[in-house]
Amino acid sequence: MRRKIAAGNWKMNGTRASRAVLEALVRDHGDTAAEVIICPPAPLIPILADAAGAFSIGGQDCHAAASGPHTGDISAETLKDCGASHVIVGHSERRADHGESDADVLAKAEAAYRAGLVAIICVGETEAERDAGQTTAVVARQIEGSVTTSATAENTVIAYEPVWAIGTGRTPSIDEIAETHAALRAMVAKRLGSETAAAMRLLYGGSVKPGNAAEIFALEDVDGGLVGGASLKAEDFGPIIDAAAG
Ligand code: 13P
Repeated sequence: MRRKIAAGNWKMNGTRASRAVLEALVRDHGDTAAEVIICPPAPLIPILADAAGAFSIGGQDCHAAASGPHTGDISAETLKDCGASHVIVGHSERRADHGESDADVLAKAEAAYRAGLVAIICVGETEAERDAGQTTAVVARQIEGSVTTSATAENTVIAYEPVWAIGTGRTPSIDEIAETHAALRAMVAKRLGSETAAAMRLLYGGSVKPGNAAEIFALEDVDGGLVGGASLKAEDFGPIIDAAAG
C-alpha cells in the first residue's frame, strides 16, 4: 500500500505570519492518514518546522554541492539542518527560470540523498510538446535524465506536472492523467526495477483544487498531489489533505 501524499509548494509566497496556515492545518488535519509535506520559501523552514507536528517540511530547490562559493544558493545539508526532510528538485519553474537541465536535476537529487532528504523530482511537458503528441516521450527523457539509479521508493517521490496546467486552472482529462501516470510507473520500472516502481509514490501537480483532488487521487497510479496555489490557504488545502487521506 502506498501512503498518499498531499504536498504543498508555496513557491515564492508567504511570510513568518504564514505559520498560522500550517498551525490551522495541523490543528484540523494533524491526525490525517495522508502524508502531508509543506514546502515554503527556505527562510521560513525553521519557523514552520517548529509548528509542523506530524507533517513534514521541504525545500523547493537545493544546490548540488554541500557547501562552497555559490552566492544565493542553498545546500541540501542546510535545508536538513533547518528542519526540512524533503526537497523539490527540477520544478518546471526552476527548469525554465534558471535553465536547469535534466543533469542538473539529477545532481540535485543526489545531493538530497547525500544530506538524508527525500527528493521530490518533477517532470512534465510544455503545451507545445503536448500539442505535438510528445508527452510520453518528454516525460521518459526527463525520467532517464533526472532520476538517478540510486533512487528508491523511500528516498524519492516523482511529481508529474504538465507545465501548461500549472497555475492555469486547466488540467488534463482524468483519462489522460491515468494514462500518463501508468506510463510513468512503467518508465520508473524500466529504470529502477518493478519492485521499486510498485512502491514509489507518483504525484500529480497542476491546478489541483478542492473540487478535483478526490477524483484525481483516486486513480490507481496517482499517489497524491503537488499543489501550488491551493496550498496557500488552510481552507483550500484542508480538503485536499482529506482527498489524499481517502
Ligand atoms: P498550481 O497548483 O498553482 O497549479 O501549481 C502546481 C505546481 O507547480 C506545484 O508544484
